[in-house]
Amino acid sequence: MTSLSEHVLEEIRELPARYPQPRSAVMPALDLAQEEVGYLTAEAMTEVAAALNLDPGYVEGVATFYTLFHLQPIGKHRFYVCTNLTCTLRGANEIVEHVKGAIGVHEPGELSKDGFFSYEEVECLGACEYAPVMRLDHRYEKDLTPEKIDALISERRSPAAAPAHAPLPSPLPEGERVKPKPKPRPRKRKSG
Ligand code: FES
Repeated sequence: MTSLSEHVLEEIRELPARYPQPRSAVMPALDLAQEEVGYLTAEAMTEVAAALNLDPGYVEGVATFYTLFHLQPIGKHRFYVCTNLTCTLRGANEIVEHVKGAIGVHEPGELSKDGFFSYEEVECLGACEYAPVMRLDHRYEKDLTPEKIDALISERRSPAAAPAHAPLPSPLPEGERVKPKPKPRPRKRKSG
């Protein structure tokens, strides 16, 4: 049994032609897989590797390195809040705190009780002039305020909310993806 649909696999197979280094296609490919399945299962990663003719260990290494990729179930609606310099200077930390309080979670990746929401902190989204900025359901939300966050959450909780994956505008050039923050590496203990 496969976890990815044939049309997503086809999209993934076409990705390497868009990059000078075909291996660079691994991140958008994992993004597509995660979008379809909800998170990256071992099976989905194996299928991505096969579709790109890459070593499965390499694909898994990329998936486990970046916080943008999830190996466990995550919220249907995910806040990717930019906490890079410009956004931080314009209140990104307060936005993160507000998101956490509003959806009732304590840390990145934690699922809200209703299973609807989770959040991540990410690197620059390429829209610094609109800081603070985040991505939610593939849409860029700019000039964020607590009131905007509350309105976005209410929209998604209401039955009339916009679909999660509506093709909405992004300030990034076509094909460019969010730069995720690498997961922190364990610190080496000092000997002696
Ligand atoms: S620093 Fe946040 S979009 Fe650039």
